[in-house]
Amino acid sequence: MTDPLSRIRHLPRVALAHLPTPMERLGRLGAAIGLSNLWVKRDDCTGLGFGGNKVRKLEFDLAAAREVRADCIVCGGVAQSNVARQVAAACAKLGIECHLGIMRGRVSVPEPAYGESGNILLDRLYGAIIHEIEWSEDRNSGLQRLVESLRKAGRNPYLVPYGASDALGALGYVLAAEEIVNACPNVRWIVHASGSAGTQAGLVGGLLALGHPARVVGIDVDAQPERVSADVCRIGKEVAALLGCNDWRDDLVEVARHWSAGSYGTSDKTTREAIQMAARLEGLALDPVYTGKSLAGLIGLARQRKFAEDEPVVWIHTGGGPGIFAYPALMASIASTA
Ligand SMILES: Cc1ncc(COP(=O)(O)O)c(C=O)c1O
Repeated sequence: MTDPLSRIRHLPRVALAHLPTPMERLGRLGAAIGLSNLWVKRDDCTGLGFGGNKVRKLEFDLAAAREVRADCIVCGGVAQSNVARQVAAACAKLGIECHLGIMRGRVSVPEPAYGESGNILLDRLYGAIIHEIEWSEDRNSGLQRLVESLRKAGRNPYLVPYGASDALGALGYVLAAEEIVNACPNVRWIVHASGSAGTQAGLVGGLLALGHPARVVGIDVDAQPERVSADVCRIGKEVAALLGCNDWRDDLVEVARHWSAGSYGTSDKTTREAIQMAARLEGLALDPVYTGKSLAGLIGLARQRKFAEDEPVVWIHTGGGPGIFAYPALMASIASTA
């Protein structure tokens, strides 16, 4: 039988992640929300730099940077960007200079720790060079300017786009789809946090290429469900093309809109409930920006009976743990609530 992922297996890739990540049954959480076949894919355990979903993407993006002999990497995001932290760690490991554009103006600073603890502290620890830039809705123009200024200074920079969400990075999640299907062949639903859209585009493209009928539900964490859907479709089509797959359909993309707490970086009652349930029922630590919202989405959808009681449902823990320490007051209030 021909390998449906053969086209991407020979692409340049650097080994950065601990793969495959574990799949674990969530027995107590499942029982609490009426799902007897609930699993977690532990992509918080990808290893490098406290782990998370972006390490998979960087295996492809940073290999491409090596191919063009880049002498530095440019990436960025808000102070608590998880991708920035994972890029900084990967650059340290590969011995390449890392420039991070840290964006002001996307989130209002919720607590003093936000600007100095968690991810930003780790960025500095891993030796990244920090540039303060302004947030722009298109997400990448500030980073592009950073690339241009490095070029003018005679450098050969490589841009890892916002969220590492280009088609190349998304291939990391094509391979994650294969891992999930290998571990749980009859998986029916895959649920995860969706923001810059590369994770979802890779999962949907991977399942399509594998001919697997599982549905992916991305939980919008940005309060921009239409933008997220459009980006998943755009990147997903490119992923399908890289896989040699001609049957991409936009109706494969499902983004759930009710668990974003109204804006990026804020949380609501559903987020806080999800963080507490994961901690107390399963010993899992979730952050309030991504995984808290995505589990809130899963819990909400289970209560709406979107999933049959015994259908295999896989929730992906996409990481983000260091972000917990940027919100000490919020997390302390969740911890002290009975
Ligand atoms: C912890 C975490 N989960 C999920 C996501 C969303 O992934 P994507 O940007 O590929 O949609 C991110 C993105 O930054 C993240 O940091």
